[in-house]
Amino acid sequence: MDNFIERLKTRLRLHRQAGLYRRPPEIIRREGASLILAEGRVLNFASNDYLGLGVSEVLRKQVGRNFEKYGSSSSSSRLVSGNYSLIAEAERAYARYFGYEEALFFPSGYQANLALLSTLFDSGTLVLFDKHIHASSVKGLALSPAQLAGYNHSSLNHLRKRLDRAGERETVVLTESLFSMDGDLLDVPGLAGLKDRYGFVCIVDEAHALGVLGEGGCGVARPVADIAVGTFGKALGLFGAFLLVPAVVKEHLFNFASPLIYSTTLPEAHAASAIDILALLARQDESRRRLRDISLEMKNGLREEGFTVQGDAHILALEIGEEGKALEVSNRLRERGIFVLSARYPTVPLGKAILRIGMTALHTREDVKRFIPSLKEVMVRI
Ligand SMILES: Cc1ncc(COP(=O)(O)O)c(C=O)c1O
Repeated sequence: MDNFIERLKTRLRLHRQAGLYRRPPEIIRREGASLILAEGRVLNFASNDYLGLGVSEVLRKQVGRNFEKYGSSSSSSRLVSGNYSLIAEAERAYARYFGYEEALFFPSGYQANLALLSTLFDSGTLVLFDKHIHASSVKGLALSPAQLAGYNHSSLNHLRKRLDRAGERETVVLTESLFSMDGDLLDVPGLAGLKDRYGFVCIVDEAHALGVLGEGGCGVARPVADIAVGTFGKALGLFGAFLLVPAVVKEHLFNFASPLIYSTTLPEAHAASAIDILALLARQDESRRRLRDISLEMKNGLREEGFTVQGDAHILALEIGEEGKALEVSNRLRERGIFVLSARYPTVPLGKAILRIGMTALHTREDVKRFIPSLKEVMVRI
């Protein structure tokens, strides 16, 4: 046991020395666009609650009523005694709203990606994936028998070269639509062109786009995606996730996906809340517009001050580089009442640490005006 503990401590020490150590601050509570920490109130630029639904009074009351009515647990996997009609009804509503044949709910996006990607392929399948896909997709692929090949982030040219070499094999392309760390958008028409030419199966993780982008928040990838991944825990203001799939994929997952078969399903109260959220989503045009405008204002404001910042929508990636420096910038900003995440290896490539600025419809022009000078002040001192 002593050697075991020593080994863990050594690994943590090296991690700290490399500027990669993680210890999230404790949050006492959330108030609109702010967080209350032990040291005081901070303005939150590290949230995925893009529309503010996660702090909406209306949704909070609806979810509360649903838990009162249906109870707190499903107490079983879908494959045992957890397959409630209400969950199936909610899944049908999600499939309809987002324009797919079927939907399937999961307790988290991580689990959804793990289930999907570890289950669907066999050893004859070639999966071509964007090198910046989320960790949950990477883990799912690692559990799959498929042949794997990454293509450079957002490079359809590189993807085309890979497709040229794919031959007659069953080929799948896996990407995100709005990249969680880079903040850039998938070239949907470009990918659709490749799909027409090469005829692959296309899986798109729309975790950061659904609810926010596209008509009614339906995302951007439908023209190209055969399968899409959505999460409840970001713009939809709840928890859990959903796959949007052809009926045969749902049937396949019910039969072969270990993370689904051997895990307790979300309760009926979640399904009832998911249905309530669809009605709210349809009415969020004003929030979606505000979010678009304030995100653009932040990006333009940062660029005017000479910062290198990327992002096509509400996720902005501000280039920092060295891991220790990114952590330092984030810490110094927190002392000034601004909470923003430094994304470091392995979340992003080594030596390419960023500040990941998550904009929400709750942010105001005053918040942007506070953020930019604070960042300038911090950067000149580091
Ligand atoms: C692109 C992407 N997919 C999947 C997930 C996982 O979703 P969840 O947080 O519901 O596990 C995340 C982030 O959390 C993500 O950014």
